[in-house]
Amino acid sequence: MRVCVVGIGVMGNGIAQLCAHARHETSIVGRSKESLERGLKNIQSSLSVFVKRGEIRQEEVDSILKTIRAGATMNLEESAGNADFVIEAVYEDLELKKKLFRDLDRICPDHTILASNTSTFPIITLATVTERPDKVIGTHFMNPPLLVRGVEIIKSLMTSVDTVQMTNKFVRSLGKEPIEVKDSPGFVVSRMICLVMNEAVRMHEEGVASVEDIDKIAKLCFNWPMGPFQLLDLIGIDIVAAVLNAMYNETGSERFKPALLMTQMIRAGWTGRKAGKGFYEHR
Ligand SMILES: NC(=O)c1ccc[n+]([C@@H]2O[C@H](COP(=O)([O-])OP(=O)(O)OC[C@H]3O[C@@H](n4cnc5c(N)ncnc54)[C@H](O)[C@@H]3O)[C@@H](O)[C@H]2O)c1
Repeated sequence: MRVCVVGIGVMGNGIAQLCAHARHETSIVGRSKESLERGLKNIQSSLSVFVKRGEIRQEEVDSILKTIRAGATMNLEESAGNADFVIEAVYEDLELKKKLFRDLDRICPDHTILASNTSTFPIITLATVTERPDKVIGTHFMNPPLLVRGVEIIKSLMTSVDTVQMTNKFVRSLGKEPIEVKDSPGFVVSRMICLVMNEAVRMHEEGVASVEDIDKIAKLCFNWPMGPFQLLDLIGIDIVAAVLNAMYNETGSERFKPALLMTQMIRAGWTGRKAGKGFYEHR
């Protein structure tokens, strides 16, 4: 299959690797020469880890890199113009994604499926800017795409059965397990995990337990690899609050309203690891 991945950041470069590794003819579209080079470098260093572990041969890596490098471009028409499946993984910005879906609809052949990796935006909003709403779907890969086994498949009201079936088949070809969900605010993954993080902050506000102890409970009692506050710092408190706000605006339900402490920390600039300070200090 000819696959085109648009946006070569954290998620895009992992998804492109998966596609090339599965022997799909894979091209990538970056915003600038620098972002393309950075993406290719990240792909190369990530693949070299598999070589060191003996899971893949150097020749295979060379051929994967050759495929991706040959299809690396800043020109959407060049890359998406003959694609069978396009995965959009640009910034979480609705206007940017809508523009891209309009362009992809104009550029791509009629049969092409247009998938978005959005964590929050309604798939129907992207579908309705195109003339092929039945071929628009959500493929929510998690971070890091190479390691997380499940992929949420989001069907809008207008996504056709054929599109869902072909997407499931494609996702399985990457060694992943597709899980179908309805197009609803936050889907399942973002809704579930953001509510857990919000509740953890609220419990801390109420003095139920400290940040460290709530994380300790998650790790020692649930066997989670990290606690909700560590996860908040990793993802970014501003990002989690934005997802909660999107669900709050869509549903009006108070449970999605970000805890006050989160809002205040964002105002203070304490947004997590990237800022050097969040619920923990990061050096
Ligand atoms: N990072 C995560 O943990 C995670 C997990 C699941 C889903 N997502 C979703 O995946 C998507 C991508 O997230 P990310 O974390 O990879 O973001 P990122 O910031 O790492 O990368 C976004 C990339 O998009 C590129 N870009 C922007 N406009 C572009 C354009 N017009 N054409 C081509 N490239 C363009 C940027 O140069 C950048 O490389 C978002 O919708 C996000 O919500 C992210």
